[in-house]
Order: sequence, then structure tokens, then C-alpha cells
Amino acid sequence: MQQNNVLILDFGSQYTQLIARRVRELNIYCEIHPYNHPPKNQAEFKAIILSGSPNSVRGENVLHPDLSEIRGKKPVLAVCYGAQYLAHFSGGQVAPSNTREYGRANLSYIKNDEVFFENISVGSQVWMSHSDTIKELPENGELLASTTDVQNAAYKIKGEETYAIQFHPEVYHSTDGKQVLENFLVKIAKVEQTWTPDSFVESTVATIRETVGKDKVVLGLSGGVDSTVAAVLLNKAIGENLYCIFVNNGLLRKDEFKSVLTQYEGMGLNVKGVDASARFLKALEGVTDPEKKRKAIGNAFIEVFDDEAHKITDVTWLAQGTIYPDVIESVSVNGGPSATIKSHHNVGGLPDFMKLKIVEPLKMIFKDEVRRVGASMGIDPELLGRHPFPGPGLGIRILGDITAEKVRILQEVDAIFINGLKEDGLYDKVWQAGAMLLPVNSVGVMGDERTYEKVVALRAVESTDGMTADWVNLPYEFLQKTSNKIINQVKGVNRVVYDISSKPPATIEWE
Ligand code: XMP
Repeated sequence: MQQNNVLILDFGSQYTQLIARRVRELNIYCEIHPYNHPPKNQAEFKAIILSGSPNSVRGENVLHPDLSEIRGKKPVLAVCYGAQYLAHFSGGQVAPSNTREYGRANLSYIKNDEVFFENISVGSQVWMSHSDTIKELPENGELLASTTDVQNAAYKIKGEETYAIQFHPEVYHSTDGKQVLENFLVKIAKVEQTWTPDSFVESTVATIRETVGKDKVVLGLSGGVDSTVAAVLLNKAIGENLYCIFVNNGLLRKDEFKSVLTQYEGMGLNVKGVDASARFLKALEGVTDPEKKRKAIGNAFIEVFDDEAHKITDVTWLAQGTIYPDVIESVSVNGGPSATIKSHHNVGGLPDFMKLKIVEPLKMIFKDEVRRVGASMGIDPELLGRHPFPGPGLGIRILGDITAEKVRILQEVDAIFINGLKEDGLYDKVWQAGAMLLPVNSVGVMGDERTYEKVVALRAVESTDGMTADWVNLPYEFLQKTSNKIINQVKGVNRVVYDISSKPPATIEWE
């Protein structure tokens, strides 16, 4: 039911994921594939969207898709680069723009009685981001809309269900962008709006049953949203044949291992808690380099997980909570790998010797969809609303070497901060929050005594995906109260600072 609805061919635009998000918001299933690696069954999709691109259709770096199976045979919507491509290589002309065409523009002309622009009026704001412009429409091109600066802002090809727009309907600032997508997908391409969390659960459970059958599946639970939702889905599909392992790496939040384990058991999951804190601490002894820490934690996790998985007889599948952005970020139009800023430890997968087949029930959905799916299966909203927490845990929030005492200090500080946010109704206004333990001591005075103790930094950010972030302007009264509590209650800390750096240039975690 949800398969093969809409295919988005990606030409490397920074907005391609947004197109997919908007389409999904219309309850329509869609998939992103690179323009040069379209799926084999592309002819089965009901509609195709061509994305924008940082490249130009003029010059040397033209990206040429093979449209022979879809052009004129399927409804096609070409956005920005896509629109220019269709124009330039089908008898039209694209040239550099005379005026800058970035940001806000308004539609100044819309062709009468055009389904593509139904419910959209002249004056509607659209968002432009291009340096080339379509000077002449392609063969059989018919003008559908203009803006003050852009004559050929939208056109269609007569005799085909091919539509092209210079503006970006997917961005928030194109006020009627979603309506444009709906007009194209629902009214023109006749795609059904059947993609809902419930339909996703139903079809995913059926697919899991079909692929996994009576086999045993092992899954590592982290306490986070993705692995939890994946586990509940698998549990619905195969019940006791799902073996969950929840590892305490000793770097979780205060009391988290016990409370989350109890919560998992309450959800009816077949889960085993493994306390490997000592093993992780040992592996981290004397390690100060952030990347080495990540590797040490990652390796220790693999060892513990592997040991545990081997205790389950005849297990043949490994389930992972991979989500769609993890999958599509790894595809680059230009082929080259993007620079590694930090080696997120859970992306590397498990060693070959485990020889397990992989099942990833969430690999086609976005984070907010994971939450909606979780909610539709009755998972506790508090669990679904949890801030992201890194796999290496407090290990990358303790700068310098890690000891049991430092972990204890940071757990106390973090708990005061996070509980305070919850008590004051601020937790849900923040995307992610946590505390860092700095590798310096500072002088203080407590009573009549001189102290020489640790400094902690609090960090709270707003973000949508962790790629960019800004610090949150928490109320001074809250910061004051929290700082007092930390210094009074956590032995070993005499100074609290608040991190006011955005990402970029600072990352969210300090290591
Ligand atoms: P940065 O620090 O790169 O963090 O701005 C962006 C987001 O990623 C999380 N993060 C990690 N998550 N393993 C993870 O699972 C890691 O090694 C890791 N490093 C950073 C971070 O908490 C934030 O949400």
C-alpha cells in the first residue's frame, strides 16, 4: 500500500530531505534516490520529483539523469535544477540571472484555471535559491506562473503530465508550497494519501513476519527513541523471538539503567540488562583523546554485545534502529565521502564475524515519524519525548580521562540540571541538554575554606536535527537556581558556567 508512491530523484540539493518531509506530511509515502542510481522499479512509482542541485545545467558539471522510463509516461515535478534541466535540454534556454534570486519572491502571474495552482493566488510568497534562470521555455512548454523577477517561474509541458517550478515548494517560507505539492501529487498524479503511522505499523509488522519468519532476532536497546520503537515493532511482529540486550556502559545518566530496564520489562519486551560498567571503565583507563574514547567505547560495546548474542542459540538476525537520515546522508551526489567531524560510534555496524542478517524496520522514516509511530503503538510519551543522548554517553562529556568518581560527579550534576528543566516546564522547549565536566580545577571559597575543585558547563540547545543548533536562552532565575543546587549538593564542584555557543562553529557535545 505504501510502496512505490513517489520517487524523489536527488541532484544533491540541501533541500532534498525537506521535499520528502513535506510529501510525508501529506500522508504520502516517498523515497529519495540519487539521480544516477534510480531504483530498478522506478517505472512502478506513481509520480516522480526531480530535486534542486548546487550544480548548473550550463558548463562542465551537468548532472544528466536518464529520464527515458519516466518522461511523458509518469507525472513529473521538476524543482529548480530539475526545471532548468528540462528546459535547457529540451529546446529551451538557461542563462545566468541578471538579478540575485535568493529568498523571498511573490507570484505576480498565475495562469487561469490551472489545477497545479488551485487554491493559490497571485501574491503568494515563494522562496527562490538559484543563480541561473530559465530564459526560454522548452519545446511545448506552457507558462504557468511568473514572479516580478522571474518570468518563467513555473511551466508545464503540453501533452505530458510534466510540471516544472523554479521556486522551492518544500521550504517553510514558500507559503503555499505544500499546496503546490498536494495539487501535483493528489489532484494531478492521483496518489493516495494513505501513509499514516498506523498503516506503517501494519505493513512493517507484516514485512518483518515475512522476512524474519520464525528466526531469532537480537537487538541492542539504548534507552533512546529509535531503538525502543524498533523493538516494540519487532515485538509486535515476532514476540519472544526478539531478544533485546540493554547494556549499561557505566556512562548513562543517573539511575537510568535501572529505571529504563524496568520500563522495558513493563512494555513486555524480552530484554536482558547487562551491567558492563566495570569493563567499559577499564577500557577507558587513561584515554583522553575524544576519538580514541569513542573507539574504546564502541569496541567494548561490540565485545559485550557479541558475548551476549552468542549466548542466544541459533540467532540469525540483528535488528538496528537506523532511521532514514542515516541512510540518505550516506549518499553523496558527487560520490566523495563528506568530511568526518566525529565518528559517531553507532554508525559503523558490528563486526563481520557475527555474520548476522540485518533488519532495520525504521530505515525509511524520519525522526518525528518514529515518534508518531511510537505514539500510535502506545509507547509512553515521556520516553518518546526524551532528548537525544549520544551512544558514548557521559564519556564524551567528561573532558580528559574518565574515572568512576568523575562519572559520579557528572551524573549528579546532569540529574539536577535535567530534573530542574522538567520541574520548570522547560524540558520540552529544549532539543537537547546536558552537562560537561571540564578537565580544570578552579579556586573557590566555601565557608571560610579555600576550595580547588571542578568546573562544569551546562549546555542546552535548540535544533531540529542536530546538524545546526543554537544555545537556548534559559531564564536567569532558572540558571541561578540550578547553579546554586549543583554547587551546594555536588561534592567536588565549585563553579558552573553556561555554554552560549552555536553550532557551527561549536559542536553540541564538547568532545
Ligand atoms: P555534535 O556534538 O556532533 O552532536 O554537534 C550532534 C548530535 O549527535 C550526538 N552525538 C553522538 N551520538 N554517538 C551518538 O550516538 C556519538 O558518538 C555522538 N557524538 C555526538 C549529539 O549528542 C548530538 O545530538
